[in-house]
Amino acid sequence: MNPSEVQLWLAPMEGVVDSIMRDFLTGFGGIDHCVTEFIRVCDQTITDEVFYRECPELQRGCQTSSGVPITVQLLGSDIDSLSRNALRAVVLGARHIDLNFGCPAKTVNRHDGGAALLKSPDRLFQIISGIRARLPAEIPLSAKIRLGFESPEDCFENAAALESAGASHLTIHCRTKKQMYAPSADWTWIARIKQQVKIPIIANGDIFSVQDFLRCREITGCDAFMIGRGALRDPLLFSKIKGQVAEDAVIKGPMIRDFFQRNCEVSPHFAQARTKQWLKNMSLSSAAVLSFFDKIKVITEPAQFERELQRWDQ
Ligand SMILES: Cc1cc2nc3c(=O)[nH]c(=O)nc-3n(C[C@H](O)[C@H](O)[C@H](O)COP(=O)(O)O)c2cc1C
Repeated sequence: MNPSEVQLWLAPMEGVVDSIMRDFLTGFGGIDHCVTEFIRVCDQTITDEVFYRECPELQRGCQTSSGVPITVQLLGSDIDSLSRNALRAVVLGARHIDLNFGCPAKTVNRHDGGAALLKSPDRLFQIISGIRARLPAEIPLSAKIRLGFESPEDCFENAAALESAGASHLTIHCRTKKQMYAPSADWTWIARIKQQVKIPIIANGDIFSVQDFLRCREITGCDAFMIGRGALRDPLLFSKIKGQVAEDAVIKGPMIRDFFQRNCEVSPHFAQARTKQWLKNMSLSSAAVLSFFDKIKVITEPAQFERELQRWDQ
């Protein structure tokens, strides 16, 4: 398959990929799908305000300004409550629901959510089949997993359980929960899972460059990929993969200033924090951004921060 035909997903990243970031990144092109940050579901019904806060795009056809569809991601384990809230999200405009079974955070796992559920394929089956039974048939229900909680070998049973429960597809972050973010993602597991499971698999983990993408595609045989941290380091990575821009293209200072301005709608301090966070990520792949970031990271006043952004002439 030609790289221009692959499906590219922007990964959900709590505290980073909110609606403003989704709008910016999809504006650069190359992204086919986005996922919201996880919305935690306990035993209560989530208010519409929370849904709209996490996914304001629900009020605009559940897509970004550039028309990229957004999947609403839920995290929890209470089948009744998850079903009720998934259904509510659909009533509000969601067109695709994803379940998070990959979050490694201790508090989330202690409360029986995220990657903790990878210890039990039976529970994965019950959760997905329980929600599936309550959702309209035309709404896809997918799952995002890690290879396992402790052992990557668990991926086979977990993937089979999710498939037989009716998951439309699986996104697999190729590490266990125990591995957190090291060692490197091991994409070879996906090729093995694909021999046993027929639903589409989206490969995820450690795609930071076009070369990484090509290797991941070669190893996994997938035609859909999800990229998280790589998208922050190089916002043009998706369009580079699709051959829409040159591999050495960089984003320009005015775009960062726009990002800061957009976030000022929340508050200037929030805008400063989010812009620093993004520059810090970009500095991992650009010496020019690194030297600028080193200069501005100590600034605490948004007005001064904005002046420095104005002077930056990348
Ligand atoms: C700061 C941060 C927040 C994340 N939040 C979520 C989340 O809300 N839901 C989710 O399924 N995964 C979440 N993830 C995991 C990513 O979606 C992705 O699976 C992981 O970072 C590996 O992909 P990457 O190497 O392309 O970043 C998060 C990761 C990071 C670094």
